[in-house]
Amino acid sequence: MKRLEKIYEGKSKNIHTTEDPDLLIQYFKDDASAFNGIKKGEIVDKGIVNNHVSAAIFKFLEGKGIKTHMVKELNDREMLVKKLDIILVEVVLRNVVAGSLAKRMGRPEGETLKNPILEFYYKNDDLGDPMINEYHIREFGLATDDEIEMLCEKGLKINQLLWDYFKERKIRLVDFKLEFGRHKGEILLGDEISPDGCRLWHWDTNEKMDKDRFRFDLGQVKEKYEEVYHMICG
Ligand code: C5P
Repeated sequence: MKRLEKIYEGKSKNIHTTEDPDLLIQYFKDDASAFNGIKKGEIVDKGIVNNHVSAAIFKFLEGKGIKTHMVKELNDREMLVKKLDIILVEVVLRNVVAGSLAKRMGRPEGETLKNPILEFYYKNDDLGDPMINEYHIREFGLATDDEIEMLCEKGLKINQLLWDYFKERKIRLVDFKLEFGRHKGEILLGDEISPDGCRLWHWDTNEKMDKDRFRFDLGQVKEKYEEVYHMICG
């Protein structure tokens, strides 16, 4: 399957059509951005890490009955995926206090949550992805009641599965973002699951192994992404 027309240029991925109208190719780039595109840079070989890590996680989730958009990995930087009608709601799951939660609630980073927290954000770059709730989603028609219920159910289930998956690999899944879309009457998990959209701390040392290294100039960005790759993909 070959890339045809580029139909979307994202901050870290491009989307191309294929000869099959139901399938697209996600091309993973090395471009990195943070703070809603204000900070920009490149992490060498990040695209390769994110493609392989996402593919390994999608495969694991499929095995646990979570349907994803992935068809297969085509090569180091390309993933063949089912075409989705993207739900414009980002679902964030949190197990440990960090990032915007620490700021919003005035809590110390690293505090373990007794129960996971699920949050919704409106997927809109121009607005900087503001936090929303079920009432906004319903009122502005971003998803139906049934879909909202499914986002919560799937989000919490995926969090439970991935917490154990990462723990077995000596990684603490602090928080992460999920995106879903509609495909032929089903809701599929879309986008990617990689160190770009997750906070991943080393289980023993709590060392950050994710995009926070780029966001806050912590150094060893490429090295830590590659460490995650080895811990996940072997
Ligand atoms: O910044 P915040 O603490 O709200 O982010 C929570 C989690 O969601 C982090 O793992 C972050 O990388 C991810 N996220 C994302 N894309 C966004 C917003 C958050 O990947 N637009």
